[in-house]
Amino acid sequence: MRVSITELKQMKQKGEKIAMLTAYDYSTAKLLDEAGVPMLLVGDSLGMVVLGYESTVSVTMDEMIHHTKAVVRGTKRALVVGDMPFMTYHTSVEDALRNAARFIQEAGAQAIKLEGGVTVADTVKRVVDCGIPVMGHIGLTPQSVNQLGGFKVQGRSLSAALRLIEDAKALEQAGAFAIVLETIPAPLAKIITEQVNIPTIGIGAGAHCDGQVQVVHDLLGLFSDFVPKHAKQYAKLSEPIRGAAADYVAEVVAGAFPTAKESFTMDEALIEELTAQLGSSAR
Ligand code: KIV
Repeated sequence: MRVSITELKQMKQKGEKIAMLTAYDYSTAKLLDEAGVPMLLVGDSLGMVVLGYESTVSVTMDEMIHHTKAVVRGTKRALVVGDMPFMTYHTSVEDALRNAARFIQEAGAQAIKLEGGVTVADTVKRVVDCGIPVMGHIGLTPQSVNQLGGFKVQGRSLSAALRLIEDAKALEQAGAFAIVLETIPAPLAKIITEQVNIPTIGIGAGAHCDGQVQVVHDLLGLFSDFVPKHAKQYAKLSEPIRGAAADYVAEVVAGAFPTAKESFTMDEALIEELTAQLGSSAR
């Protein structure tokens, strides 16, 4: 049985913290699921850490569906959330419904996430009314990075902080089951967490959120272009991966790989027969 949105809400009520990670492929999702991560986000961070785009705005619905399917195939227990890419829920409520439905129907995800607060509340309500659980995302919303003037801490002035509180309340009112709070001051995240009854999931929002989400490539030390201040590297896998690849190249070049251990044998008599036939056909 997969984790449900009801269980996540109960975790907030009981004061149990929720750990969420991103995932983009079958093998990693399987490992994270086996490790007991209750909620996996197929984030549009896919664009940067997997596909090598400069930002998340280039990510398409088809790319998200492709990767979400792989994550769903790799998991048994985790609730899988598909991230709605840039401009797939702004053009009309109908577009939002159609694209949200693709995550559930085509990819097998259990929920979707979209960025924005008050401005997307009506859309959130319509998607939820169709039976699709929605996770909100406020604060530093990477799809609006050009509008926000860069990857900066949000909610630092009184008016901006009040706007974020209103955004969180609007999302809760619209039926969102949880809200990502990204790159906002920890005291503001604490206030928002106290003001809403649904779980807040922080990334760069301090320790008082009901849960935390991290990009798995940051956590594992797999993405070397930059390491965000809010990220903690629990492993530095880029070093052993680079080392293993270099060892492989060196062994192939030196003829040291493969050895008999990695090769398949053939019956001696068959080899002799084969050689004899080739010898006679060559004459
Ligand atoms: O795309 C993503 O990975 C996200 C998380 C950073 C919350 O939206």
